[in-house]
Amino acid sequence: MKKSIADHAARFSEIAADYDDEQNSEEYEACASLVIQRAAPTDTDTVLDLGTGTGAIALALAADAERVVGRDVSEGMLEQAEQKAADAGIENVAFDYGEFRDPQYDGVAHVVTSNFALHHLADDEKREAIETWAALDGGSADGDESAGPRRIVLGDVMFFEEPDPSDPFYSPEVDDPATVGSLVEMFTSAGYAVTHVDRVHDQVGVITAERVVTADRET
Ligand SMILES: C[S@@+](CC[C@H](N)C(=O)[O-])C[C@H]1O[C@@H](n2cnc3c(N)ncnc32)[C@H](O)[C@@H]1O
Repeated sequence: MKKSIADHAARFSEIAADYDDEQNSEEYEACASLVIQRAAPTDTDTVLDLGTGTGAIALALAADAERVVGRDVSEGMLEQAEQKAADAGIENVAFDYGEFRDPQYDGVAHVVTSNFALHHLADDEKREAIETWAALDGGSADGDESAGPRRIVLGDVMFFEEPDPSDPFYSPEVDDPATVGSLVEMFTSAGYAVTHVDRVHDQVGVITAERVVTADRET
C-alpha cells in the first residue's frame, strides 16, 4: 500500500461531499453499471459492498437484494452514503466502518461487490482481501459456513496491457493496480471460477467470480 489506511480514509473524507459530482467519466460509469449487472442479487440475498464510498453500488443493488451491507474506511464517504440512503428512503442498507481485509461483518454474504477501490492495496494485500472475502459465510443451503459467497464481483482499475505511463488512468503516487492475470489467479486460488472478465478500458475492468461447486462439496 502506497499510503496508510488512515491516509486513504482522510483523503476520501476530504473530497466526500464532491465525490459523486466528480465521478462522471465514461469508464467509471461503465464499470459501476457492469458491477451492478454482474452482481445480480436475488431478493433473498445479502450483498456486502466493500470500499462502498458514497454507496453507488450498494444503493443501486438495494432494490433487488434483501439487504445490502456497505463497508468503508472513510467516515466522510460513509456519511454521504447514509445521507443518500435516507434521502431516497432506502431502508435495507447498512453502512459502517470496515476494511477490505477486516470488513467487520460476521453475517451472511451471498454476494460480495467492490468497485474502484481495491487498487489502493498492494498485490499481496489484495490477495489477503480476496482470501478474507472467500472465507465469509456465504449462507450455503447445507449450513456449511466455510462455503464462501456465491459470487464476487470486482470492478476496478486493472491492467489488460502494459500501462501507458503517459496516460495513466490512476494516480501512481496513491494507487497500486494489479494486472488482470494476477487478479484472476487470486480468485482461482481462493476457490473461485472466473466466469466473466469485462474490459471497459485497457486499465479498467470487471471480474466476476463464482464459488466452485464440485459433485460432493463446495470449496
Ligand atoms: C474511488 S472510491 C470508490 C467508491 C465506490 N465503490 C464507488 O464505486 O464510487 C474508493 C473507496 O475505497 C475506500 N477505501 C480505500 N482503502 C480502503 C480499505 N483498505 N478498505 C476499505 N475501503 C477502502 C475509500 O475510502 C473510498 O471510499
